[in-house]
Amino acid sequence: MILQNYRKPYMSKVIKTVIITGANTGLGFATAKHLALHKPDWQLVLACRDESKASAAVSDLIRLTGNGNICYVPCNLASLVQVRAFVDAYKQGKFPPLHGIICNAGLSGNDVPEFTEDGIEMTFQVNYLSHFLLVYLLLPDMVKDARIILISSELHRNDGPMRAFRPNYTSAKQLAYPNPADSSRRDSGSQRYSTSKLCMVLYTNMLARRLPLNNFGGIAVNAINPGLMPDTGLGGLNKKLLRKWFLKYVLPLVTRGAVSTPEKSGEIIAKIMWSDEYLGISGKYFDREKPSAASEESHDAQKMKDLWDSSLELLFLSGRLLENAD
Ligand SMILES: NC(=O)c1ccc[n+]([C@@H]2O[C@H](COP(=O)([O-])OP(=O)(O)OC[C@H]3O[C@@H](n4cnc5c(N)ncnc54)[C@H](OP(=O)(O)O)[C@@H]3O)[C@@H](O)[C@H]2O)c1
Repeated sequence: MILQNYRKPYMSKVIKTVIITGANTGLGFATAKHLALHKPDWQLVLACRDESKASAAVSDLIRLTGNGNICYVPCNLASLVQVRAFVDAYKQGKFPPLHGIICNAGLSGNDVPEFTEDGIEMTFQVNYLSHFLLVYLLLPDMVKDARIILISSELHRNDGPMRAFRPNYTSAKQLAYPNPADSSRRDSGSQRYSTSKLCMVLYTNMLARRLPLNNFGGIAVNAINPGLMPDTGLGGLNKKLLRKWFLKYVLPLVTRGAVSTPEKSGEIIAKIMWSDEYLGISGKYFDREKPSAASEESHDAQKMKDLWDSSLELLFLSGRLLENAD
């Protein structure tokens, strides 16, 4: 088990722990930086897949913030075994009480679907399903007023200006195991990405309903659109867009203020995690700092139920922890 840079001498000072997936770069890194700056007495656990990148990120964050309470625990979301191993390592690490999880890691796949070692479509598993597993397994460890933040995107809307990027939620099982022979699907890497971001909002809405019905009433879960950030790894997706549709589609978004930077959005996400201003707010979709209306589709009861039930099935979870539903 690697608990890289876990500095025992800080143990007596730290009071809370926050886990951030995919925090070695881009938005996750910026969020970790702002949390480390605002909350020197919180332990940050970076859940990352690449040991050398994660190690470098931990060193950079300590250097930039002067906060030594930052470590990483390996977590590859493309492997359900590794997600479970992360949770085991985390629990053995005896960190201070778990105050929050930021489900940030994400990727955008190619048009030809790729599959994880679990046989599940890569984008669906990494962006959504493994985060479901992570949160589910860690729920019993969370403090009463803990916060869960799920990173989504405006691309979760099915009325967006870019048809190729509109989500296509059929059923969770079809998303997990897409059938290439199914010609009714308008499938592409960008569409699978948008669909995974819709899953994050459907999941937020369902989790926010179930938590209070299952003795987790103080735990808040919210989704956030961090805005278009052309400078991150995933920004490559945006650059493709920028080239193709700049004048027609992107310029209006720029003028409407849809473009952001990891720095700006990371600061907002960190604030949603640490500030009392956000205490008790749950089941919301934030467009950066502003609560905003998520798509109608993200409140579709049938889709929410299908996603919930199928996720439990795909992950071989009993669901007992959150079985009460209205
Ligand atoms: N960029 C945008 O314009 C934009 C807009 C809306 C929403 N978002 C969302 O913002 C979040 C952060 O993205 P970003 O823009 O910061 O992109 P990024 O720079 O590419 O960062 C993505 C992070 O996810 C990690 N990751 C990818 N696959 C993983 C796996 N199998 N297991 C564990 N971690 C994995 C990456 O790790 P490696 O470094 O090892 O690859 C990296 O740390 C994503 O959820 C994205 O969908 C981004």
